[in-house]
Amino acid sequence: MSMKQILIGLTSAALLSLSMAVQAAPIKLKFSHVVAENTPKGQMAIKFKELVAERLKGKVEVEVFPNGQLFGDNKVLEALLLGDVQLASPSLSKFKKYTKKLQIFDLPFLFNDMAAAEKFQQSEAGQSLLKTVEKKGLIGLGYMHNGMKQMSASKPLHVPADAKGLKFRIMSSDVLAAQFEAVGATPLKKPYSEVFTLLQTKAIDGQENTWSNIRSKKFYEVQDNITSSDHGLLDYMVVTSAEFWNGLPADIRTELKKALDEAVALGNKVAAEKSQSDKQAIIDSKRTKVIELTKEERQQWVDMMKPVWKKFEPIVGKDLLDAAISANK
Ligand code: LMR
Repeated sequence: MSMKQILIGLTSAALLSLSMAVQAAPIKLKFSHVVAENTPKGQMAIKFKELVAERLKGKVEVEVFPNGQLFGDNKVLEALLLGDVQLASPSLSKFKKYTKKLQIFDLPFLFNDMAAAEKFQQSEAGQSLLKTVEKKGLIGLGYMHNGMKQMSASKPLHVPADAKGLKFRIMSSDVLAAQFEAVGATPLKKPYSEVFTLLQTKAIDGQENTWSNIRSKKFYEVQDNITSSDHGLLDYMVVTSAEFWNGLPADIRTELKKALDEAVALGNKVAAEKSQSDKQAIIDSKRTKVIELTKEERQQWVDMMKPVWKKFEPIVGKDLLDAAISANK
């Protein structure tokens, strides 16, 4: 054998082992979200990572980036489409650029409780909404709960007139803007990562969020009052990109979906617990005053905010709205 033949032989052996190594490299899956780890979504992401490590060892590796470390919610869907992350779970209020139909979930006082939200999401109408992001190259893998939103402010909010003239941070949703405008307040669309500082420096007067977000991000330490209003829903859609998802081997895709469904079930359980325990922890902290509304006071908020539905009914569609309303029964 000539030297040349030996060299060719060695090179092809090296190339072969290299290609085998490349084939065997695990699929990397980056999961980016904006909340703390001790929240329903934070716990769901950790559970998903654990399940995948257990069941798809050496085949798929999940990396979780909490607290907006990697991307804020204004960038994460774009990042999914660019392949910079593979999984995200933004609130349903943050999909405006991708579909207007999800605006239904922001309508104030639409769902009486989380059971109604769950019933609607699992209904045919609710499931059809997951598909509305498909034309933009995203795949809605399912819903996940956080819970009902509460309003916090520098001054006590008992009736809508108390909110008049105040500045509230909102997620990037036109429904939420209309909701605060309906009570004479000024809504400001700001990223989640900026809320604490905006409240602390009094650049804004208030915000709306769930008990777990208010606690984990310490908003209650910089807000003197929180009204237990349950006036709207903060839930999520778990999304991936069609390019990534459809490019996966079928057996891996099935395992990932199974792990995700189990992680979401755990996240939903955490959400239900935290809606009680985080509220109680905030009350016990004595750092803020938690206001319970009388029936009459709450009705005033309903009367002022509910007319917002009319404006968005043509966008979300009457059938869908009727389906959501009927989930309360
Ligand atoms: C917010 O921006 O207030 C929420 O969407 C944060 C979250 O993901 O719960």
